[in-house]
Amino acid sequence: MAYLQITGLSVNFGGVRALSDVAFSVAEGSIVSLIGPNGAGKTTAFNVITGYLAPTAGTVRFAGESIAGLRPHEVARRGLVRTFQKTNIFPELTVGENVLTGLHLKGSAGLGAILLNRVSVRAEEARLRERAEEVLAFVGIAHRRDESASSLPYGEQRLLEVAIGLAADPRMLLLDEPASGMNPSEKESMMGLIGRIRQKGITVFLVEHDMRLVMGISERVVVLNQGQIIAEGSPDEVRGNRAVIEAYLGTQGESLATSSANRAPA
Ligand SMILES: Nc1ncnc2c1ncn2[C@@H]1O[C@H](COP(=O)(O)OP(=O)(O)O)[C@@H](O)[C@H]1O
Ligand SMILES: [Mg+2]
Repeated sequence: MAYLQITGLSVNFGGVRALSDVAFSVAEGSIVSLIGPNGAGKTTAFNVITGYLAPTAGTVRFAGESIAGLRPHEVARRGLVRTFQKTNIFPELTVGENVLTGLHLKGSAGLGAILLNRVSVRAEEARLRERAEEVLAFVGIAHRRDESASSLPYGEQRLLEVAIGLAADPRMLLLDEPASGMNPSEKESMMGLIGRIRQKGITVFLVEHDMRLVMGISERVVVLNQGQIIAEGSPDEVRGNRAVIEAYLGTQGESLATSSANRAPA
């Protein structure tokens, strides 16, 4: 069953056609990757799906309902949560406080509740802290809870970003280049974490440049080039696809079999 379904999606930026009649779907419970050379339109697709950008044309359906035109926080409330290619962390807050910012989305205590009923607000806060602790433990950085986010090594900052996303209790998590800038052992941890996220029943849709990571964990891979889908299939099908190999060779001088990180600016 298509959990996320994109049809006829086009985005123009002035004269630049960033996406051109793009269609694909993501099955519930799967790990699907969106790959393609720099400028292919991957981040633009993420921005449309998560309500940060209105498409020029096309539809986005999630769990059977149209989510086109919803604002980012409304999309997130429906369970479609993203991380960012550029970090979304508040560096001056502690690790634990950062996770609380993700939980805020699910918290029910508004200002009215705070004024009217301090006891229930305190209960709510205790519940949120417990949940933050669970999420930190899940990604493996609970021991860092009281350190400032900016003091974390880079790889752990990326894990914190995933923790912030998980705190919002997603049904589907969109990860934009979660392993960019990571060293090989950090990438291994990220791969393991993505697998465990899926085991929790969360559907994962990721944009990632690291081919070893993509090919190692994805059930399906969708390949964009210059705003159009040029291939879609299992990792093996995509790896052997002539158009894909040419797209990568043409723009990056790098073969799919050997390519690793190719860090693009957001
Ligand atoms: N806000 C914007 N304004 C104008 N052009 C943009 C904007 N965002 C992206 N683009 C252009 O759209 C194309 C796709 O960009 P992007 O989605 O960031 O690619 P990717 O994430 O695959 O590297 C590129 O040509 C990029 O320069
Ligand atoms: Mg991008």
